[in-house]
Amino acid sequence: MTMLKNKHITFSLILVCLVVVSPMAKAHIQGVLACTVNGNLPLTGTSAPPFANAGVQLQCGRQNTVVATSTTNSAGIFALPSNLIQMLLSTLLSDCRLVVTTPLATCNASLPLGNLVSQLTVVGSTVNGLLNVVNIAPSGFTLTTK
Ligand SMILES: *[C@@H]1O[C@H](CO)[C@@H](O)[C@H](O)[C@H]1NC(C)=O
Repeated sequence: MTMLKNKHITFSLILVCLVVVSPMAKAHIQGVLACTVNGNLPLTGTSAPPFANAGVQLQCGRQNTVVATSTTNSAGIFALPSNLIQMLLSTLLSDCRLVVTTPLATCNASLPLGNLVSQLTVVGSTVNGLLNVVNIAPSGFTLTTK
């Protein structure tokens, strides 16, 4: 029994050390969805209506585990709560993707049925006190049809 308790304490101490030693970093994921054939903003010179009220999920791993969710505002902008994203940045970039759960045709019936999906990419970082905030954006959406 004492043995078990000690093991538990040792394990907790190791966990505490890991948390303290690992760099204080947060991920801030933000992007914008346009109501275009691939959800991306067109090249400069043209404008596109925003894809408002679209559900956006951060899905990770082979099981497509939903890690965080968001909805685009009237300007098509979404942001994912950073405190929910407690994983290595490398894992986030390699194993996770943004999935727009609202079909693209919802914003414009002439657009194809299907869902927009994008990998993630680091666009910069901001230091906020002791906290290093890594700014992450979609690398570019593509339409997936089922
Ligand atoms: C809907 O999409 C079609 C095809 O891309 C485009 O021609 C049309 O202007 C769009 N309508 C609106 C209201 O954005």
